[in-house]
Amino acid sequence: MMDVRIFKSAQEAAQAGANLIEEVVLGKDQPILGLATGSTPIPMYQALIQKYEAGTLSFKNVRTFNLDEYIGLDGAHDQSYRYFMNTQLFDHLDIDHANTHVPSGIGADHAADAKAYDEAIEAAGGTDIQVLGIGNNGHIGFNEPAEVFIKGTHIVDLTDSTIDANTRFFASRDEVPRQAITMGMGAIMSARKVLLLAFGPAKAQAIRDTLCGDIDPRVPASILQLHPNVVVLLDEDAASLL
Ligand code: PGA
Repeated sequence: MMDVRIFKSAQEAAQAGANLIEEVVLGKDQPILGLATGSTPIPMYQALIQKYEAGTLSFKNVRTFNLDEYIGLDGAHDQSYRYFMNTQLFDHLDIDHANTHVPSGIGADHAADAKAYDEAIEAAGGTDIQVLGIGNNGHIGFNEPAEVFIKGTHIVDLTDSTIDANTRFFASRDEVPRQAITMGMGAIMSARKVLLLAFGPAKAQAIRDTLCGDIDPRVPASILQLHPNVVVLLDEDAASLL
């Protein structure tokens, strides 16, 4: 079931998202969070940091698995997703960094790393809540539009649309990595709850296709129609075509 909630501002939606994550963290002895990078979750992460600083929420027993990482960037690179997670969230919480997982984009054997990542998620019992942003092209994680849905963590060639969207973070388009390692649909769909966030007019078409269109791997997020527990938090711009 898709529980779609529309807010006046991204800020209000982010607060609602932080409250849902708080519920999960308070409700379990060893909560497992699936986390995402990108501009979208930043205000929600800030709201979580505020809860930690206020003393109402601890992340001591939390374990995390992130969706994806660029191939070729190590965790010290300021555009790597490991660096993003450390600086935007983990460094500001009482979480044990050893309990935070981001796929490795620099291993010698990406296929082995991908397999090990899925095994680690499975060994943890899957995620209690998976945070997702959405690409303008409907991608979730770096599951790009394709002919089929891919189940496992895998290496993906980024589409021109994604490379264009991410050029803003690099000195030039040439510097944007062409490949990424991403959690597949198996781990995403086995999350006990999915939290999909989208803000701004550029996301409106992807949100409409995801929620109202056919389930089609050319709109990767549309697979979420089959998930039993999805909360979609939108601002009015992202909801404008619904
Ligand atoms: P954004 O990216 O949050 O920076 O818009 C979302 C995504 O590509 O998944």
